[in-house]
Amino acid sequence: MVRPAVPADAPAIAVILSDALRAKYRPALGARALAGLAGMVRDDLSSGSGGFLVAELDGETAGAVHLATAESRPGDGFARRLTERVGLVTATRAMLVLSLLRPDPLAPDEGHIGELGVAEQARRRGVARALLDAVEQRAREAGKARLTLWVTGENAPAIALYEGTGFAAVRRRRWPVGRLVFRASGIILMEKRIGGS
Ligand SMILES: CC(C)(COP(=O)(O)OP(=O)(O)OC[C@H]1O[C@@H](n2cnc3c(N)ncnc32)[C@H](O)[C@@H]1OP(=O)(O)O)[C@@H](O)C(=O)NCCC(=O)NCCS
Repeated sequence: MVRPAVPADAPAIAVILSDALRAKYRPALGARALAGLAGMVRDDLSSGSGGFLVAELDGETAGAVHLATAESRPGDGFARRLTERVGLVTATRAMLVLSLLRPDPLAPDEGHIGELGVAEQARRRGVARALLDAVEQRAREAGKARLTLWVTGENAPAIALYEGTGFAAVRRRRWPVGRLVFRASGIILMEKRIGGS
């Protein structure tokens, strides 16, 4: 079952994403990845922009996805709240590292998937496919004509998932700084048309 996340889901989402996306959150937040992420997710959910969906399997939270749109940018005070949670040094490092991953400004017709993770024990049971179906539905309801996401060239499972659900590569970027920070030498922008002309 996939449903919109509520603030009480923040800790479970943070556990899943800090593990599934550790290549991103370890360099950003180090040992504070779980606390930092839980706070960021709670902020997103409390802001009303409501970009997270969660999947439940066997009564447990099994996966999460985040949809960003041009209308739902992180609210003011993001840096201050992160600093309060993880301290100035970690927050500064996190802002720097995460800025390397910031997508181009989103177009009005674009829904952007910035986070997708499934708990290790729940993989290969269709959870990610269900989350992508639901996020597509939500983006369509919001009037978006396409879904976009960045994936590292090394992430074969995710690329297989996206290609199998109708996404196609539209741009490939070499990424020297990514090799250094995230151990990923290239990133691929993938897109799926979901409506409109
Ligand atoms: C990629 C990820 C989200 C897939 O989640 P999942 O719930 O296991 O995926 P699903 O069960 O819905 O798989 C759907 C399809 O994707 C492809 N796929 C998923 N995992 C795969 C793997 N390890 N190897 C090859 N193909 C895979 C398959 O085509 C699969 O269909 P099939 O099982 O019928 O063959 C999960 O492995 C994950 O969380 N990885 C770490 C985080 C990550 O990489 N996120 C994406 C960042 S861009």
